[in-house]
This record gives sequence, structure tokens and C-alpha cells, in this order.
Amino acid sequence: MSVPQEVHKNVILLPQTNQLRGLYSIIRDQTTKRGDFVFYSDRIIRLLVEEGLNQLPVEEAIIKCHGGHPYKGAKFLGKICGVSIVRAGESMEMGLRDCCRSVRIGKILIQRDEETALPKLFYEKLPEDISERYVFLLDPMLATGGSAMMAVEVLLRRGVRPERIFFLNLLAAPEGIKNFQDKYPDVKIITGGIDDHLDEHKYIVPGLGDFGDRYYCI
Ligand code: PRP
Ligand code: URA
Ligand code: MG
Repeated sequence: MSVPQEVHKNVILLPQTNQLRGLYSIIRDQTTKRGDFVFYSDRIIRLLVEEGLNQLPVEEAIIKCHGGHPYKGAKFLGKICGVSIVRAGESMEMGLRDCCRSVRIGKILIQRDEETALPKLFYEKLPEDISERYVFLLDPMLATGGSAMMAVEVLLRRGVRPERIFFLNLLAAPEGIKNFQDKYPDVKIITGGIDDHLDEHKYIVPGLGDFGDRYYCI
């Protein structure tokens, strides 16, 4: 079994298996059409959600199997919810719903200014009891880290504990990871890929372009 790699404190990189590299090769390819982009991104998203669930704490539970045979198992006792950073983060909601039946999902609308790449917060709608939950924060791209950090700020203002936030992310730039970790060292980042750097427009290199456009529009 391949084990996720801890790259920095609280940065968990999915195992770079041949399968995962194959999936990324499809979504990174600039000639890939939207249907395949969505299908293969969804497969990666599912892996990220599964790894997020792996990170949650459990308590030992003794289960009675057929004939009363005991099995030493595990039970997750906490409550979780998802929070997507709109728009691109919404692409990750279905992967979470597929694993967690009737999971609550909040939304935070943050958009990067196209000229300055600085994030702007427009809207937030979160479960009332979010401070009692583990939160899977969903956004496929971590470039400068500005959007994700702004979203974490919103969650902390609502009383969520930093160690209960898991940021699920398809692709990260080292600059973004550093900014994010310097500010929020206790928030876990679970990512499928860490790229080389940001270009002059603050896009990830080699990256995959604009995730939201490729998933929803192009
Ligand atoms: C993208 C992406 C992240 C953000 C990452 O969203 O989905 O939210 O940029 O960049 P950062 O780390 O430098 O903040 P964008 O604002 O382009 O909106 P979209 O979701 O509508 O594509
Ligand atoms: N947003 C994207 O969709 N891609 C990037 O490379 C950076 C921000
Ligand atoms: Mg966004």
C-alpha cells in the first residue's frame, strides 16, 4: 500500500503512483477536451477526499460480527462539512457527496482580481454549527495562497479550530504552500501535486491553466 508523503509539516502529498501521474498527464495536457478534463479531475478529487477522510481521528469500536464474533474496528465520532471556494471549488463537492452521504456544504465566493491576482471576498454561507465540525475546504488550485488564506480567515472567524481544517487541493505552487503554512501552520493541506513555480501572471507552472474555465466553460 502506498502511503501519502508528508512534504512539510501538515502538507500531505498523495502518493505519486503511476496511476496518479497518468491522471495528471491527462488533465495537464492542453489538448484535453472538457469531457475528459472533468472525468479525470473527478477521479483525482475522489482520491483527495478519501485521503482527507483517512486523516480524521477515530475511536476504537468493538463490533459484533456474525455468530457474535468480536471485531476490533474504528468509528469516526465527529461531524464534518465541506466548504467550497466558488467557482472552481464547487467541482469538488460531488466527490465529497459521493463519500459522505448528505454532507453539509457551505460556500465562500472568492475571486482573484485578473490584473493583480489579489483575492476578493464576495459572499459566504456556512452551516450554523460549523465551529463544532471538521471542515474540508475545497479548492483545486493553490497559487499564491491568497484565496485559500482568505477562506481560512472566514472559517476561523466563525470559530472553526485550525487543526480541524483540511484543505483539499489538486495542484499547489511552492510559493502558495509557504505563504499558507507561514500564516496557518496548523491547517493541513492535502494535495495531489506540487509544481515548480508561479509565472508572471501568478499561474502555476507547469500547471494546467485555469481550472475553473477548463472544468466549466471551455
Ligand atoms: C482560482 C482558484 C483559486 C485561486 C488560486 O480561482 O480556483 O481559488 O484562483 O489562486 P491564489 O492561490 O493565487 O489565490 P479564481 O479566482 O480564478 O476563480 P474561479 O474559481 O472562478 O476560476
Ligand atoms: N487559478 C487557476 O485556475 N490556475 C492557476 O494556475 C492559478 C490560479
Ligand atoms: Mg476561485
